[in-house]
Amino acid sequence: MKPLEIKSGVFWIGAIDWNRRNFHGYSKAHKGTTYNNFLIKDEKIALVDTVPEEFWGTLQCNIAHTLDKEEKIDYFIINHLEPDHAGCLALAVEKYRPEKIYTSPMGQKAMQTYFHYEDWPVEVVPTGAEISLGKRTLTFVETRMLHWPDAMLTYCPEEKIAFTNDAFGQNWATSERWADEVERFTLEDLMKQYYANILLPFSPIVLKTLKALGEMNLDIEMICPDHGLMFRGDDCKWVMEKYIEFAQQKPKNKAVIVFDTMWHSTEKMALAVATGLADAGVSVRVMDMKNNHHSDVMSEIFDAAAVVIGSPTHNNGILPLMADMLTYMKGLRPQNKVGAAIGSFGWSGECIKILTQWLEDMKMEVVPPVKVKNAPTHDDLRQCYEQGQAIAEAIKAKLDG
Ligand code: FEO
Repeated sequence: MKPLEIKSGVFWIGAIDWNRRNFHGYSKAHKGTTYNNFLIKDEKIALVDTVPEEFWGTLQCNIAHTLDKEEKIDYFIINHLEPDHAGCLALAVEKYRPEKIYTSPMGQKAMQTYFHYEDWPVEVVPTGAEISLGKRTLTFVETRMLHWPDAMLTYCPEEKIAFTNDAFGQNWATSERWADEVERFTLEDLMKQYYANILLPFSPIVLKTLKALGEMNLDIEMICPDHGLMFRGDDCKWVMEKYIEFAQQKPKNKAVIVFDTMWHSTEKMALAVATGLADAGVSVRVMDMKNNHHSDVMSEIFDAAAVVIGSPTHNNGILPLMADMLTYMKGLRPQNKVGAAIGSFGWSGECIKILTQWLEDMKMEVVPPVKVKNAPTHDDLRQCYEQGQAIAEAIKAKLDG
C-alpha cells in the first residue's frame, strides 16, 4: 500500500503483513496484521517507529515516495523496541543518519541491549519532555508495561494526534486504514483478541495510564496505533472506553470448557458439563486443545465468568496440550473467574489434584471437581451435568454481586 497523508504533512507509511498468522511466536493472527509507522514533515522531519526488518524494502520505498529529493529525515522517534516496530532501526540509522533518536528512559536501555550501538545520537525523553519540529511539537508520555517497560506514546498537540504504538492495536491486514471504514463487530472482536493475548496481564496499568491520560486533558482527534486500523473523531472516545471496559474484566454470563482427551472419556464429561451450564442459561464454548490454539481459547476465556479445565491423568500428570494452555492462561492473569476441574483416570489419578492447583494458583473461585475411572457411567455424567449447574449458580452469584 502506498503512503497515506492522514493530516497535512503527516503520513502513514506502514507495511501490511497480509499472510501473517503466527504473531510474535505465541499467538494467532487469523487476519494478518499491519505495522503502522509515520513520517511527519515539518522544518524538521521525524520518523515515528519503523517496521519489521523483513519490510525494510517497503519502508525505504514509502519514505522515498513521501520525501522530496532534497529532504532528509532529521529525527527518529522510537516508541517501543520490540522488533515488529524497531526491526529496521539499525538499517535506518545507517541509511538516513538521523540527527537525533528520541526514546524513553527504558527505551534507551532496551535499544542499547538490542543494538549494542556505540555512537548513535540517542536522546532520552521522559514523560513531559517536548521537542519542536518547527510548526509542530511532539510531547512524550511513558506508558511503561503497555506492554513492555520501554513503551511510550508520542503526542502532537498541533495536529491532535496520539501515536500510541501497541496500545489500541488489532491484528487485521486491510486496505482500509481507518476504523470507521470497516465492519465494527469484527474490529471490536479483533481488538478483544489482541487485548486478551497481549495486554491482559497489565490491566491495572491500563486503567492507571488511561486515568493519567484523561487528567492530562490531551485534545485527541486521531489515535494511531502501530497495528491495524487507526481511529479518528468520535472513535477516539469509543476506543478509549473499550479499553477501560477490557481492563475492568467484568465477566459475562459465559463459560469456557477447555480440555484434552485420550479415549474420549474427558470429552464426554466436558459435554455433560456443557449441557448442565446451557440448561441453566449460561452461554457455553467447548474447546478441545487438539483443535484450538491456546490464543483462541484465551480470547474466549477473556470475558467468560467461568473456566472448566479437563484432562485425563497421563504419566502421573496431565496431557501436555493442557499443560501448555494452563501455563499460557496463568501468565495472562485472568481475573474474576469461577473455575472447575474434570478428568478421567486409569490407575493413579493425579489429574484433578493438579488441575485444581492451577485453578487455585490463578485465584479462581473453585467449584468441586468431578473425577471418573476409565469410562464415565450414566451417574458420572449426571455428576458432570450437576457440576455445570453448580458453576451456573456460582456465575449468577458473581454477576449479581
Ligand atoms: Fe507490536 Fe510490542 O510489539
